[in-house]
Amino acid sequence: MEFKITGKDSNSSARAGILKTDHGEIPTPIFMPVGTAGTVKAVHQRELEDDIQAKIILGNTYHLYLRPGLDVLENAGGIHKFNGWEKPILTDSGGYQVYSLSNTRKIKEEGVEFRSHIDGSKHFFTPENVMDIQRTIGADIIMAFDECTPYPCDYDYAKKSMHMTHRWLKRCIKRVDETNGKYGYSQSLFPIVQGSVYEDLRKQSAEEIASHEREGNAIGGLSVGEPHEMMYDMTELVCEILPEDKPRYLMGVGTPANILEGIARGVDMFDCVMPTRNARHGILFTSEGVINIKNKKWQKDFSPIDPEIGGYASTFYTKAYLRHLIHTNEILGAQIASVHNLTFYLWLVNQAREHIIAGDFNSWKNEMALKLSERL
Ligand code: GUN
Repeated sequence: MEFKITGKDSNSSARAGILKTDHGEIPTPIFMPVGTAGTVKAVHQRELEDDIQAKIILGNTYHLYLRPGLDVLENAGGIHKFNGWEKPILTDSGGYQVYSLSNTRKIKEEGVEFRSHIDGSKHFFTPENVMDIQRTIGADIIMAFDECTPYPCDYDYAKKSMHMTHRWLKRCIKRVDETNGKYGYSQSLFPIVQGSVYEDLRKQSAEEIASHEREGNAIGGLSVGEPHEMMYDMTELVCEILPEDKPRYLMGVGTPANILEGIARGVDMFDCVMPTRNARHGILFTSEGVINIKNKKWQKDFSPIDPEIGGYASTFYTKAYLRHLIHTNEILGAQIASVHNLTFYLWLVNQAREHIIAGDFNSWKNEMALKLSERL
């Protein structure tokens, strides 16, 4: 994997770049649609590619390991062959889902014992087997096994947890460096900074993570309920320590404004369920602000959903029609809204990229972040 910075903003830490993987190039900053179970919910691969113009999607180790399971994935020849998305894929390690989804879990030095949220069956994740599982799933970028601390989290717990995440990282690195990808292309391991909302812990964690000199680095444990300013401060502090010449990935973030603020602080990659999950509830992100399409206000609004951003779903369908579909619980409503929200997110990061290259990112960002937070 190779990362080249092609533009820098002079009034912020924003940068534009290109990340090269064996499955293609990713322009950064980038938003990665979440495809938890190997599918971006309610969205076809063709829509992802042609309309949304996604460059990389995300999968989850926890879900894919439980269903369809490693046997099916290995027989398919890996996740790309299984779901037909031949562009880059990243898998999260389960270091988040195990805590948020599984029924009971016991965290020990060796790993995490948990019960499946589907059938209650017992499983054990360790740094080593999570690397092996991600080798079998076959994503281009794989994540270290970590503990994502909740918010609030007391200092002593955050410190102990961070040190465990660091020890787990060493085990992940050892395992990944003594094994190879199963399908003939390379897989890059990204370690994850933790440390909750404590400056000294974040600093220590960022230094530890940077010292391993992997091909990219991630920031975890944020967007878990802390105030936005705290998330921005932690992101800024960590980005200043992580190597400049490697991509930085802020996990699970966020709203359009959160993404712009992350970019301004030097983040290159983002993922979040927000555009797809909110879409299914009728919450639309547009270039004018946030719309609740279920509101009566849109009943006879026959204008396109968002003509500004391009893409079939956003320019062809009207607000009134989408409102009707969501209201009547039609499957097509969830599809159109999901494609639209993702088209918007990809449009947003692409705009950010163009403004970084043009040299006016920061002033554009300040204006845009305000506008996008408005509720229409
Ligand atoms: N997704 C959002 N936050 C996190 C995190 O801290 N760790 C992992 N593994 N995934 C995440």
